Amino acid sequence: MTIKDQIKSILEKAVEATLKNNGERTARARTSEECGSATSERSELTIEYPSDLSHGDYAANIAMKLGKIMQKNPREIAEQIVKNIPKNTLIEKVEIAGPGFINFFISEKALKSEMAKILKEKAKYGKSNEGKKKTVIVEYSSPNIAKPLGVHHLLSTIIGQTLNNILGAVGYKTISINHIGDWGTQFGKLIYAYKKWGKKEVLEKAPINEMLKLYVKFHDEAEKDTKLEDLARKEFKDFEQGDKENRKLWEWFVKESLKDINKTYKKLSGIKFDFTLGESFYEDKMDDVLAEGKKKKIFVEGEEGSYIAKFDDENMSPMVIQKKDGATLYSTRDMTTLKYRIGRWKPEKILYVVDMAQNMYFKQLFETAKRFPWYKNEGFHVSFGRMRMEDMQMSTRKGNIILLDSVLEEAIKRAKKIIEEKSPNLKNKDAVAELVGIGSVKYNILSQNRSTDIVFDWDKMLSLEGNSAPYMQYTYARARSILRKAKSAKKEGKTAENKGEIAEKTSQLLRAIPKFKEQLINSARDYKPNLLSQYLYELAQKFNSFYNSVPVLTAKDPKDRLFRLKLTQSVSQILQNGLALLGVAVVEEM
Ligand code: ARG
Repeated sequence: MTIKDQIKSILEKAVEATLKNNGERTARARTSEECGSATSERSELTIEYPSDLSHGDYAANIAMKLGKIMQKNPREIAEQIVKNIPKNTLIEKVEIAGPGFINFFISEKALKSEMAKILKEKAKYGKSNEGKKKTVIVEYSSPNIAKPLGVHHLLSTIIGQTLNNILGAVGYKTISINHIGDWGTQFGKLIYAYKKWGKKEVLEKAPINEMLKLYVKFHDEAEKDTKLEDLARKEFKDFEQGDKENRKLWEWFVKESLKDINKTYKKLSGIKFDFTLGESFYEDKMDDVLAEGKKKKIFVEGEEGSYIAKFDDENMSPMVIQKKDGATLYSTRDMTTLKYRIGRWKPEKILYVVDMAQNMYFKQLFETAKRFPWYKNEGFHVSFGRMRMEDMQMSTRKGNIILLDSVLEEAIKRAKKIIEEKSPNLKNKDAVAELVGIGSVKYNILSQNRSTDIVFDWDKMLSLEGNSAPYMQYTYARARSILRKAKSAKKEGKTAENKGEIAEKTSQLLRAIPKFKEQLINSARDYKPNLLSQYLYELAQKFNSFYNSVPVLTAKDPKDRLFRLKLTQSVSQILQNGLALLGVAVVEEM
């Protein structure tokens, strides 16, 4: 249980006792209906973090809520609640503030025992059982074969992998899936173009590049000669009907594309899928869903014999599920995929980490799914905004296509430059630059609220000062360097210590510790990695401010020294564990 949950359960008891005490005089005199609402309000008991630490570690506004219902002064209720708080070792002090807030201060003893947990559990610290081992499918990346990775695929890969990590850490059984786009009429075009203009050796050398060229060439030629579109359609039809040559070509295209895509995953590092099941995997499973949908009148006839799903909401256009020539679509495969996943894994949730251009599509998909008896609202679209490139040079950019390799290389180059400047004597500069460079690209994406545009800004990304990977990695390395020195350094506590300041900075840092688990859970609940990164950033800031004014290695009293070292170690462990979930590697020296 997190400290927040413990506070909540203590408070629940106190509220219950308070309501009971009031029962004789007030509650019973009131209508049972109102009593009912008092109880339901109680179950909505929420605990907040006060923005100012002087207001405590946690705050509750339950007294105000009850005050309204019971028509009593909330401060009075707060006082009663506080009186009813059972004895415990967790809470040091409770204060009533303003109109009736109840503020809780956590005892140092509880904080220190949390610290001991970190030092014991090490890399495992932070895990919780929020998910109760329930299954969540996380689908992400899902690029299209024969095309370069789009910017949105990069975002999906990074956000999705992190959500998968976070959900795993809070106790869900996660299944990660790459739903690659390896089906559709575009393959007819590619097959046609390859047969006409392609060369095996060229394609094998740089598969995606060459496929893109063929694709572009096809479109250029098709503008001049409209017959080409029909010819491509024929190639796809032949392919779907099992034409051997076309099947072979398609398999080869997929294989070569995946080689390229896997290189990118490798470079990003930490990208792992439990399953890579492309759209083609559902080829032989679509008839079943189509038949079921038609039979249940979920799919009805549209124009010229196509099949569609219609919606009451007039802002939602119908979703086409089968074309007039009987061909299937993206949506047919998604509906089939949904049924397949639910049948095979019985997940509680299925997350689709896909950019917001598909918001309407997923709305239609889930709305349609609701009409099938096997669907219980498992689907959830984890939508994210567009990448806004503030200063991306044209060399690394081409429409929506990002030349990812160039971006990563540029990030590594820039990281190296910073390292040369800051630590000219560092030994393994290249290895560190790689971790910092890649880390900065990932961290930049994960530290922003995914629902809005995601800004890509080199200076911010690589700044040693702001909310960036280098700052986090630097803070970690700093803490580790203190711990290394502690083993050899002489204890020489001569400097006078500013007691007040030391107490303040130490307490601020110590009190930040329990929030790691809590923010991890919040991140998992909202599917928002930036809640975790924001916490880590604040922790790093508090640590730096602690270290700037509190002597650690040179503490006067050996007991203080030991405690401050333990605190430093705890913080470094949280940074390491938290950054690992974000896919950002730490370095021991920087
Ligand atoms: N391949 C698709 C694209 O690049 C994304 C797939 C998203 N997942 C899904 N189940 N529809 O746009």
